[in-house]
Amino acid sequence: MDRIRIVGGNQLHGVIPISGAKNAALPLMIASLLTDDTLTLENVPHLADVEQLIRILGNHGADISVNGRRERQGESYARTIHFTSRNIVSTTAPYELVSKMRASFWVIGPLLAREGKARVSLPGGCAIGTRPVDLFIEGLTALGANIEIDGGYVNATAPEGGLTGGRYVFPKVSVGATHVLMMAATLANGTTVIGNAAREPEVADLAKCLNAMGARITGAGTGTITIEGVRSLSGARHRVLPDRIETGTYAMAVAMTGGDVILEDTEASLLDTALEAIRRAGAEISETNSGIRVVRNGAGIRPVDIVTDPFPGFPTDLQAQFMGLMTKSSGVSHITETIFENRFMHVQELARLGAKISLSGQTAKIEGVGRLKGAPVMATDLRASVSLVIAGLAAEGETMVSRVYHLDRGFERLEEKLTRCGAHVERVSD
Ligand code: EPZ
Repeated sequence: MDRIRIVGGNQLHGVIPISGAKNAALPLMIASLLTDDTLTLENVPHLADVEQLIRILGNHGADISVNGRRERQGESYARTIHFTSRNIVSTTAPYELVSKMRASFWVIGPLLAREGKARVSLPGGCAIGTRPVDLFIEGLTALGANIEIDGGYVNATAPEGGLTGGRYVFPKVSVGATHVLMMAATLANGTTVIGNAAREPEVADLAKCLNAMGARITGAGTGTITIEGVRSLSGARHRVLPDRIETGTYAMAVAMTGGDVILEDTEASLLDTALEAIRRAGAEISETNSGIRVVRNGAGIRPVDIVTDPFPGFPTDLQAQFMGLMTKSSGVSHITETIFENRFMHVQELARLGAKISLSGQTAKIEGVGRLKGAPVMATDLRASVSLVIAGLAAEGETMVSRVYHLDRGFERLEEKLTRCGAHVERVSD
């Protein structure tokens, strides 16, 4: 099994190309099931989660071809992928496929809307909380679906004549349930209004793509989304938006090690709250023509308190990385996690590097230490694992991160991107 070996102490200098967003690419790929025409997605990152979803879509009958991969130095790693689901050959998403990644549950929306039925295994994914599916079920029920859970599967059927537009106000913000309801409503009869919708940029990106396919969606990116159902959707070509979590992760890495890095092909407006927190921690951040420049020279790392929140708040997907940064701050900081109840598994691993962190309910108290020391650590979930990389880059000596497959789910060529900026990071295959 692969491991990542880091020898800490080097500053980062150079350019890091930011990939297309995993969390936009996944729902966009799933949206291809809504049409019998070809959906072409550009800037799709090469990640384990994307490959897994390709297998899942293939199981439903999608014909998928990949091209346009560019790998030369300085260029982005983007791929262009064509998805054509001329016929849906199966409306079942089996446990073996869905259990590996929670987002694969989202096929329930397009399958139900297009075929009138779906049988989808209850999901798996990162073990960061209980992650139920009640909001999906309530939302789809508001569109007229009949839903039962049986033997670990969600069985959904639409009434004769298809789903009907409805009004549903989420009692709690859910990114995935917003994606699914929006996709299902595109082919429903009449108008659907989704209240307390997730405002994440990936939701707006999905709506943009669906509208290019002929859907009639307004308000995506705000708390209220209105969808006028249409009879069918066509193909389209769409470019996946930049990965704001990858952007924030590398910005935090530079803030941690010091240095001067341009994050290319990304947009500051996707992560204002996180960038503000990094600025307060002592890094200078400015916008360039093609992205963001992050600099930290002499200044030390200042302690900053954060609370995770749905967009536009501080993203839960950057919480672990920010904690990594705070382990070396010059004082005491507090990080409160409000989205997932079990997203502090990195705490004990960071402690192995010498971090001083104590937990009280959903809040972590981090007492900054002058030095971290490299150690063997274990990745526990996707974002937790990259927080160990950030800490390892600033730790003295060698940090060996095992269970790297977590990293490969969401970070494209991490070691290559960091090495080009002067870090000592390598993949070790046993
Ligand atoms: C998406 O997950 C992201 N995944 C997650 O990123 C991200 O952490 C999360 O949104 C929050 O921003 C993808 O986009 C593929 P939610 P999702 O539904 O949609 C509860 C990463 O590291 N909830 O917004 O699964 C849920 O338990 C991943 O890239 C219900 O209670 O998250 C959580 O507490 C990890 N009932 C909260 O809502 C439901 O039916 C928000 O979850 C659904 C969700």
